[in-house]
Amino acid sequence: MECLERDQGLPLNSPDRAVVSSSPLQIMSTVRTVPTTQETAELSYGGKTFQLPLIVGSEGEKAVDIGKLRSQTGLITFDPGFGNTGACKSAITFIDGEAGILRYRGYPIEELAQHSSFLEVAWLLIHGELPAKAQLEGFAKEVTYHTMLHENFVRFFGALPKDAHPMPVCAAAVGALATFYQEAENEETIHKNVIRLIAKMPTIAASSYKHFVGQPSVYPRNDLSYCANFLRMMFSNPCEEFQLDPLHAKALDLLLILHADHEQNCSTSTVRMVGSSQANLFACMSSGISALWGPLHGGANQMVIEMLEAIAQGDGSAERFVQRAKDKNDTARLMGFGHRVYKSHDPRAVILKRYCSEILDRIGPSHPSARLFDIARKLEEIALKDEYFVSRKLYPNVDFYSGVIYKALGIPTNMFTVMFAIGRLPGWVAQWLEMRRDPDFRIGRPRQVYVGATMRPVTPQ
Ligand code: CMC
Repeated sequence: MECLERDQGLPLNSPDRAVVSSSPLQIMSTVRTVPTTQETAELSYGGKTFQLPLIVGSEGEKAVDIGKLRSQTGLITFDPGFGNTGACKSAITFIDGEAGILRYRGYPIEELAQHSSFLEVAWLLIHGELPAKAQLEGFAKEVTYHTMLHENFVRFFGALPKDAHPMPVCAAAVGALATFYQEAENEETIHKNVIRLIAKMPTIAASSYKHFVGQPSVYPRNDLSYCANFLRMMFSNPCEEFQLDPLHAKALDLLLILHADHEQNCSTSTVRMVGSSQANLFACMSSGISALWGPLHGGANQMVIEMLEAIAQGDGSAERFVQRAKDKNDTARLMGFGHRVYKSHDPRAVILKRYCSEILDRIGPSHPSARLFDIARKLEEIALKDEYFVSRKLYPNVDFYSGVIYKALGIPTNMFTVMFAIGRLPGWVAQWLEMRRDPDFRIGRPRQVYVGATMRPVTPQ
């Protein structure tokens, strides 16, 4: 019954509008004061020497503060791809790429993967602390209560081409939530909208898949966990109720935890950039999904499985594919390999490789994923001994083994990046909230080095 009362699109001011109301988010994600240091960096230019202040992060990372560089020297910095540019201070996620360390709010990813649930991690990222038992129960209840989509979404999905890829469908649907929840943003409405986003994202994702396969969307159920609910919405149909394997729900929960945040990557930076104009929360999350779709970012998980399948269906030779990936005249890349930050190993890939073994032991060697896992391991083994990959410090990243597990769970390949988006959502939300509370908050507006034509007159023809 409760399910039918949820978010039914009543007028926003209707007293009947059944939005579970709780106290606004107790956000602890404000950025701590940055430790000061007496150290400075010196820049010599135009016969003068400039002292540039240094700031130090809580893990000892140092950054040159160039906030006044242009006004003092007339210079800007040039850093394509932002490989050396810190765009914000953040207290959410710490990565040491050289050591292969990833921590959310100080907690090692390995420990969170072992002891926590995805909703617990979502709370941690957003609030800054792990929830107490009662807080987690309250959060899970709120999220469960808001999983249903407004009925008008049936027409929304119906308006899209029948073979629409689920990623742009999700981006559009999340953006469209802004048309259903138009209250001005304040602490209370942001809280509700964060809950709505986390609650409705799996429903949107499953509906986008149902649309793709031409089946009616499946309504969420209140008695199931976050991941069990998603799997049921994916795999039930009017003729057959889905039989949940708890192992699958657990595996999915782990995958979501591992994807939940990753500091200032492409999609998170996009969320912050769009958010810096004070754009609406839903619009910012939609922009994050769009950025994530690219094959160099979250879209790589789909590309990895397509690569493994192409090798399996071709000559099956991992050696030959690695040769192709090294050849600069060949467009083939070893998808799921390499990372801007990790230069020894990606700890998420280590956890996932181990979990692949566990889940495939349970599922059995005849499952198609087992063959793909063998090929993936062979590719890794060859690449990690190959001078090309060793010298460039290229290792398997999170996308290398995640697809094998998704495949084992029966998730269709074109949904892999959508799964990444469900996992990353709390991270985007936490970063968006942190940005809005940052005392240094300014609209994002990079500069450029102009290399086009100098001024020239228009010659009338
Ligand atoms: N296969 C073959 N060569 C590679 C690969 C790869 N997967 N990745 C990097 N290289 C080479 C690259 O060609 C370059 O060689 P050279 O120095 O001779 O020009 C060198 O390694 C440095 O690479 P880069 O492209 O300059 O590094 P980047 O930091 O700009 O890009 C990356 C990082 C992840 C986009 C890149 O490694 C890549 O394209 N990997 C495959 C796609 C992929 O798996 N993406 C998922 C990333 S992890 C999930 C996420 O957070 O999005």
